[in-house]
Amino acid sequence: MGSSIRDSLTLPNGVELGNRIVKSAMSEALGDERNDPTDGLIDLFERWGRGGAGMLITGNTPVDRDHLEHAANVVLDGKTDRDRMRRLATAARSGGARALVQIAHGGRQTPAAVNPHPLSISGRPLDLPGYGTPRAAEEGELEVVVAQFARSAGLAMEAGFDGVEIHAAHGYLLSSALSPRINTRTDRWGGSLRNRSRLLRQVVRAVRAEVGPGAIVAVKLNSSDFQKGGFSHEDSIAVARMLEAEHVDLVEISGGNFETPVAYRHAAVAQGTARREAYFLDYARDIKAALAIPVMVTGGFRSASAMNEALAAGATDLIGAGRPFIADPDFPQKMFDGAIDMAPAPERDFPAADTLPRGAVLNWFCHQLALWGRDGAPDLDLALLDGHERYLAMLEEATGRLLAARRVAS
Ligand SMILES: Cc1cc2nc3c(=O)[nH]c(=O)nc-3n(C[C@H](O)[C@H](O)[C@H](O)COP(=O)(O)O)c2cc1C
Repeated sequence: MGSSIRDSLTLPNGVELGNRIVKSAMSEALGDERNDPTDGLIDLFERWGRGGAGMLITGNTPVDRDHLEHAANVVLDGKTDRDRMRRLATAARSGGARALVQIAHGGRQTPAAVNPHPLSISGRPLDLPGYGTPRAAEEGELEVVVAQFARSAGLAMEAGFDGVEIHAAHGYLLSSALSPRINTRTDRWGGSLRNRSRLLRQVVRAVRAEVGPGAIVAVKLNSSDFQKGGFSHEDSIAVARMLEAEHVDLVEISGGNFETPVAYRHAAVAQGTARREAYFLDYARDIKAALAIPVMVTGGFRSASAMNEALAAGATDLIGAGRPFIADPDFPQKMFDGAIDMAPAPERDFPAADTLPRGAVLNWFCHQLALWGRDGAPDLDLALLDGHERYLAMLEEATGRLLAARRVAS
């Protein structure tokens, strides 16, 4: 018989998750001007921990202060406030969920205001405003990146997390290295898939060596970049197999990057069956068929019936969800109790993305996370463009504070 969302799952490292619903990483923008966790972030994870999910994954947590995803990230490095990280881990685990830190390197997707010439796998810039021209990393610099990921993973374990998720999706450094469109290197870090995956494989190996066999090491991987000449679905299946050989416990499937933002679709999402809701499910099924380790697929799941259908069909082992946790942190428990079938989906009321300013729906959700941090509750009635604009204004302010704090420190 197939599994259901209520079933537990034991990962290859021996750690058991109480059920199959996982809160996927969502960048909270609740780091302070030193990029440490704020009380609002700690409270939010305590709130999520009470909602019934089997595992919580933190938002994008850069391993390098010069390569942020945005100015309000939490950074995990030697300067991080370890007491605050411990409080974050304790809060996230207080309701019985397992908790991972999503560790990342912004690469060429680091905003120009934070770093006008970020380290990347090549000099190819992002085809979007607000990002500088990257610098192709020298070999020694890639080795430093590997060591940074291992250090952050060690710090996550020291803080009391159950492990880490290495972010190799959505166009950040590790993801960009996998793409032949972006990774134009001719040395041993570019060219063949074996070479393009070298950076990710070395990171996984170094992280595993640092955290030991008992920690959870997950990787978020694109099913495809959905770009001509980019990282393809066939590449993704092959890399997932390489990750399995590197003793990864779990592969989370997503897709796209800043130039092809398909990870958080909204308008075209249909409801009812697993295939209509979960837009990467067919890709995940192919990847799962090639692997013995667990697979999680994230993107679009809203109904318990679609989640159960995907699990029962053996298309995935875990259900990742993001936006529903912003709208209702208790939706997993309500589903387990049979009180609801559908998680709230405020995005369904928004117009199609091509009629909106770039990133508007994502920014509305980002603003809701900021409200969770500030007020302990979202404002789901807030107009779309108000949320979008308030988030952009907040980020601009956070960038100003970060740069001012850095000037004082230097
Ligand atoms: C506000 C917001 C922030 C996000 N930040 C991250 C992130 O930091 N790391 C990541 O891997 N994915 C991030 N995502 C993508 C989610 O993890 C998830 O893949 C996506 O929202 C699709 O799932 P959903 O339909 O259940 O929301 C973010 C999504 C949202 C809405």
